[in-house]
Amino acid sequence: MSNNIETTKRAFFEELDHNKSIEELLRFKGAYLGKQGKISSLLAQIKEIKPEERGKYGQAVNQLKKEATAAFQKKKEQLETGKKNAAQVDLSMPGTGHPSGNLHPLTQTTEQVITIFKKLGFSVESGPEIESDFYNFEALNMPKHHPARDMQDTFFIDSNHVLRTHTSGIQIRTMEKQKPPIRIIAPGKVFRVDRDTTHSPVFHQIEGLMVDTDVNFKHLKFMLRTFIQELFGSDREVRFRPSFFPFTEPSAEMDVMSEQGQWMEILGCGMVDPNVFEAVGIDSDIYTGWAFGIGIERITMLKYGMTDIRPFFENDIRFLEQFI
Ligand code: PHE
Repeated sequence: MSNNIETTKRAFFEELDHNKSIEELLRFKGAYLGKQGKISSLLAQIKEIKPEERGKYGQAVNQLKKEATAAFQKKKEQLETGKKNAAQVDLSMPGTGHPSGNLHPLTQTTEQVITIFKKLGFSVESGPEIESDFYNFEALNMPKHHPARDMQDTFFIDSNHVLRTHTSGIQIRTMEKQKPPIRIIAPGKVFRVDRDTTHSPVFHQIEGLMVDTDVNFKHLKFMLRTFIQELFGSDREVRFRPSFFPFTEPSAEMDVMSEQGQWMEILGCGMVDPNVFEAVGIDSDIYTGWAFGIGIERITMLKYGMTDIRPFFENDIRFLEQFI
């Protein structure tokens, strides 16, 4: 009788490997381990066994049942993972495709500006977005309660800290730690209480500063013209208008002609005011310097003929995808 067990066992393990799908395997399982299955019916045959051998026989059938169940489980797992792997490498499936990302247009412009100024010998500096009153105003020749502060509607953090209204504080930070000659640019986010189609409460600037002996306004004009020509091509018209900033004297604003034939203001600039040099301990009898602050959104709008600043901050993928 125990021969039967052996034969069933051999048959089970031989046939197990022939099952090529989960469905086949389940049918196979029923044939052996189901109620009427071959292994189960071995147990039913126990009454034909001599009483003294029944214990051993029962044990042997149970052992086979255990082994068969474990082997079945293992085979099932193999078929399942095989199915998964096969799905992953099924070369007949149509491709799914991966959309490629791109840099935000403002990041692209910032990188272009940095590349141009690096070629002109400038290095890149940065500073904190939460700035102290000293770096944002005081050291830039804007004493407390001075009406010049009204030019920039400010978000205050506390009585001594603001969300920086411009990147000009980085001029001060740089001149404090580095002696002339200085030639830096400083890109970054700036914040003002301002919101309409051409103003956003957060926007981006690139500050520029050059300090050395014999630095004059002609150099400034040359650098800025060169920069615009590099960015927009050599036939792009620019103009300088007299302006006022507390930290430069004289001061100017630079406009660039848009493709629609309109002047667009893109930056403020001027010769570093001697009071600013004094605040950082640079001798203004020996050194002169100039500075500028470029609006990144403005030049990006110029580049793409945009009249509205808001799409830059809405994160609408349909807008952003156009700048690949
Ligand atoms: N900080 C000025 C602004 O944000 C721009 C500027 C920078 C002007 C440097 C002159 C010199 O409006």
